[in-house]
Amino acid sequence: MDIQDIDDVTTRALTELAAAEDQTALEALRVKYIGRNGLLPELMQGLKAVPPADKPAMGQALNRFKVGVTAAVAERKTALAAVAQTAKAGAFDLSLPGRWPRRGRVHPITQLIDKTTEIFRRMGFTVADGPDIETEYYNFDALNTPADHVSRDLADTFYLPGGMLLRTQTSAVQARYMECHPPPVRIVCPGRCYRRDTTDATHSANFHQIEGLYVDEKVSLADLKSDLDHFARELMGPGVKSRFRTHFFPFTEPSVEVDFSCHMCGGKGCRVCKHSGWIEIMGAGMVDPNVFELAGYDPEAVTGYAFGMGIERLAMILFGIDDIRRLYENDARYLAQF
Ligand code: PHE
Repeated sequence: MDIQDIDDVTTRALTELAAAEDQTALEALRVKYIGRNGLLPELMQGLKAVPPADKPAMGQALNRFKVGVTAAVAERKTALAAVAQTAKAGAFDLSLPGRWPRRGRVHPITQLIDKTTEIFRRMGFTVADGPDIETEYYNFDALNTPADHVSRDLADTFYLPGGMLLRTQTSAVQARYMECHPPPVRIVCPGRCYRRDTTDATHSANFHQIEGLYVDEKVSLADLKSDLDHFARELMGPGVKSRFRTHFFPFTEPSVEVDFSCHMCGGKGCRVCKHSGWIEIMGAGMVDPNVFELAGYDPEAVTGYAFGMGIERLAMILFGIDDIRRLYENDARYLAQF
């Protein structure tokens, strides 16, 4: 080896060292070039055979090799350590607890809409729909409700420009549906209703109802009773019964209010049923012949029953919610328990 060879080896060694990918590769190169059995000791050994006149120059070349390689090893070592440090700082920490996506829940009102429609679907009812913004005709006139009826008062109903209003009851769907579907009819209509009520623990200006309408030949009050008994058991539990109390609605004759026996105490009397054993659930009755006539049905040919109940009320009874406002505040922590 002459001086040129040694300088070439030096250059190559420095290039290799600068490219060492990790500490292991770097260490291998260090051993190869300046380790105890590496190239440097071998070359030093060879120096003995060099003629005395060439020795100083040769010695200097070897020194350049030794100093250069030693410095390059140290430099690369520091650089690799710095890279490793940065990678570690930004790395995925496997010991951290996972990030759980928050799990949603179906709102109690939606749960009750789903549950009630499901029960009636199994009884052969289909789901019908109508608009929230109604005409006075469908909300009142078609339901045999005269112009001087209290529910039509400005203080009770939200009137809109152009003779429209926000429907006060899902009963508004009845005439709409019958006008374009010949009997038999078996529908439930869940939806929003609006009344000029001052909000308190049991009233809300915006609430939900589910309406039922069954029209066919020879539908009787006994059908209403047995169907609602079945509904009561499906919704509240096997021991629950229904009872009728006479009432008045302009669009049904006879009209009843329907109570279910208390699902909590079995009718003995408790806090939930205010010690009466019964819980008021809905309004119902046999469809008034005038309603059939206005919808274009022949009241001599068909009879039918209708019922309507408040969804919020059902949710409050079933989940033990004491204030209707809790259903609208949308505090997810509160609603998540149902
Ligand atoms: N629409 C009535 C109400 O809102 C309930 C009802 C529906 C009564 C159908 C009888 C028949 O109070």
